[in-house]
Amino acid sequence: MNIFVVGASGLVGSHCMRVFHNNDWLTLGTHLNYSTSGTVHFDPLVDDLQDFFSAQNFFPDAIVHCAALTNVDFCEHNVDDSYNATVLSTAKIVEFCKAADIPLAYISTDYVFDGKQGPYSERASVNPVNVYGSHKLEAEELVSLLEKKLILRITNVYGEELRSKNFIARLMDDLVQQPEKVLNLPYDQFATPIYAGDIAEMIFLLLRDRKNGLYHLGSSDYYSRYHLAVKVSSYFEKNKSVKLNPVQTINANQAAVRPLNGGLLNHKFINEYPKFQLTNVDSYILKSLKNEL
Ligand SMILES: NC(=O)c1ccc[n+]([C@@H]2O[C@H](COP(=O)([O-])OP(=O)(O)OC[C@H]3O[C@@H](n4cnc5c(N)ncnc54)[C@H](OP(=O)(O)O)[C@@H]3O)[C@@H](O)[C@H]2O)c1
Repeated sequence: MNIFVVGASGLVGSHCMRVFHNNDWLTLGTHLNYSTSGTVHFDPLVDDLQDFFSAQNFFPDAIVHCAALTNVDFCEHNVDDSYNATVLSTAKIVEFCKAADIPLAYISTDYVFDGKQGPYSERASVNPVNVYGSHKLEAEELVSLLEKKLILRITNVYGEELRSKNFIARLMDDLVQQPEKVLNLPYDQFATPIYAGDIAEMIFLLLRDRKNGLYHLGSSDYYSRYHLAVKVSSYFEKNKSVKLNPVQTINANQAAVRPLNGGLLNHKFINEYPKFQLTNVDSYILKSLKNEL
């Protein structure tokens, strides 16, 4: 299978590249501003997909679209940038997939919900409370018009990444390097943090088995940012310099409104793949500390 991964220089995309490659799929992955080994520059708003694939001599059997402007507070103040990066870009990719009659796996978020009653199943009603969530939902709606599609909602992703920019990776770096620091962390924003490697394996299975429709890729963990940080730091006994300060969301000075009781229930996926072994935060940290990832 030939797979085109849009946003392969990012956290989820880079794990998709690794997992697909390990399963003997031929991959072509893209970056926008951060070139990584094995990715090519691609801007869905500028590049014509047909011309791009001809130039690359790569003809995909499916596309995994992991690209988005993911800074939720930036999106709140830069509505046009968010719309272009998330909605217009996706529209271009949807158009190509429709004409080529190939499946599109689109990565979305639990921010399509308002956070009043999470964690959420696929049957729950959407109601985004910020710009990022609204634009992800608009993109989902475009993808849902395709005959062959996967809409895969995820949240609070962690894992190894070149830029170490996800919350757990950054915190672990701090806990090793021990800078004097106070982290103000909301104790009332809950989600189901998930390992990027698990997401990639789940996407592999769903594409391999030609599944169609909406799936929530949740984990078995349910943490607030503060409780997650306490859990991670408990593995670093000597930590004295990084102070974890619990704050209430309304005092956290975040530009975008946050869903408080977020998170995703994975029952649909696990019913279809009962043998799938999800990583949890404990097992991830233990493996990471033993260099077993
Ligand atoms: N991480 C999470 O906790 C989380 C939670 C819920 C949903 N998601 C969704 O999961 C997907 C993957 O997230 P991630 O954490 O892997 O993000 P990430 O690490 O920030 O990576 C985003 C990727 O998209 C590319 N990109 C950004 N803007 C683009 C644009 N306008 N056109 C083309 N490419 C663009 C980036 O390229 P460069 O870096 O090379 O510029 C990068 O390859 C996103 O759709 C995100 O909304 C993530």
